[in-house]
Amino acid sequence: MLSSPHMAEDITALLEALEELSGPALVLDPQLRVVGATRQSEELVGTPITPGTLAPALLCGEGPERPVAEALAAGRPVSAYVHRPGPEGDERVVRVRASPLRSGGFVLLLDEENDGEGEGVEHRWGITTRDPSMRQLLRDIEKVGRSESCVLVRGETGSGKELVARALHETSPRASGPFRAINCAALPPNLLESTLFGHARGAFTGAVRDEPGQVRLADGGTLFLDEVAELPLDLQAKMLRVLQEKTVIPVGGRDPVAVDVRFISATHQSLRRAVADGRFRADLMYRIRVIPLFLPSLRERRGDVALLTDRFVAELNGRFERQVERITPGALSLLEDYDWPGNVRELMNAIEYAFVMGEGAALTDADLPPELRGSDEGRVSPRVNASPTADLQLPPEARRISTALERAAGHHARAAAALGMSRTTLWRRMKKYGLATD
Ligand SMILES: Nc1ncnc2c1ncn2[C@@H]1O[C@H](COP(=O)(O)OP(=O)(O)OP(=O)(O)O)[C@@H](O)[C@H]1O
Ligand SMILES: [Mg+2]
Repeated sequence: MLSSPHMAEDITALLEALEELSGPALVLDPQLRVVGATRQSEELVGTPITPGTLAPALLCGEGPERPVAEALAAGRPVSAYVHRPGPEGDERVVRVRASPLRSGGFVLLLDEENDGEGEGVEHRWGITTRDPSMRQLLRDIEKVGRSESCVLVRGETGSGKELVARALHETSPRASGPFRAINCAALPPNLLESTLFGHARGAFTGAVRDEPGQVRLADGGTLFLDEVAELPLDLQAKMLRVLQEKTVIPVGGRDPVAVDVRFISATHQSLRRAVADGRFRADLMYRIRVIPLFLPSLRERRGDVALLTDRFVAELNGRFERQVERITPGALSLLEDYDWPGNVRELMNAIEYAFVMGEGAALTDADLPPELRGSDEGRVSPRVNASPTADLQLPPEARRISTALERAAGHHARAAAALGMSRTTLWRRMKKYGLATD
């Protein structure tokens, strides 16, 4: 197949370059047989590729519509799509760009077309996103909102748990009823108890009149229990009763009062771990996490950083005298590279900081808070709720990448979309950090 040893060397070098620069790629001889394939191309095509395989059959099968096969047969360059079986029995659309070589044969660059996934921006219930997993979450909210089931929202601080809880309420049949939120971490236990369940007049010093409490105030609507893992054990027992009996007994009262409330809870930590540590009742966990919803951190959806930045800039233009018309590339790359331990809230605050500290129509890197500009300080800041699986020896970006790969079950395109980087970039960084094991 190969005419000289030099050519074999050339092809090896060519494949190495393609692997580095492009990712999935094939080199064909003039008879359209595969002479070499990058590793990523096997993953994308979904089968091992042995040298000598005929490329048109490999990529196009024997289907009637074969623009790629026809162009290759005619020796023409082409950019077209072929369909390949995906990893989950679905179909994946692969873009093939073919360029003829002067010596005969072709170089084929392959690329997964993800159906515009990640391109469409959605904005619902105050949640702005272009991230595929967030957009799936929006679909789920719609479905789950209609039900009466208890939902547990898990996500880091500032990632939008309360927005999700409100969205669930707004899509539910209870939308016209009250939405009440209570932060279980914010109050001392005795105050938390009477705030939740109410109290009878004279129940304790200062209880000068009957108070209904948040559970009853949410009657006919939704009660949002934020930081539910912080609920003290004795109150967990009482909360379990409320969920089982659908009644509440106020502090110092005797008679149970019937309530009709839907419960949505949120936590930044694993409830399972809290159960394992003996800090949380298993029976209550099963009651409140009938439907768990997971909210990705901002660093896992970097594609949203620029989008949210634009949104916050537009909002602040309405509130401030300074009018920002553009964000410099330097500022944007600082924003996109930062770790965002405080997630969307921290981004919002960083943009407001920049509005106040800078001037002029361009928001520059110099306007941003020091933790974003500072050499390493911000970027290695301890994560508020770091993934327990992350290898702490790796630099933050490597950890981010390995977490995204784990979450995407090794599916590179999905991990790349979640990270807001191209598959090629992802592959290059995986190699850089030694994460490309195959
Ligand atoms: N996707 C988003 N689009 C627009 N704004 C968002 C988005 N996510 C979060 N925000 C904003 O960020 C802030 C933090 O969100 P929220 O209060 O829902 O987070 P949280 O997870 O409940 O945080 P905490 O754990 O601190 O209670 C809010 O002002 C919210 O409006
Ligand atoms: Mg909150």
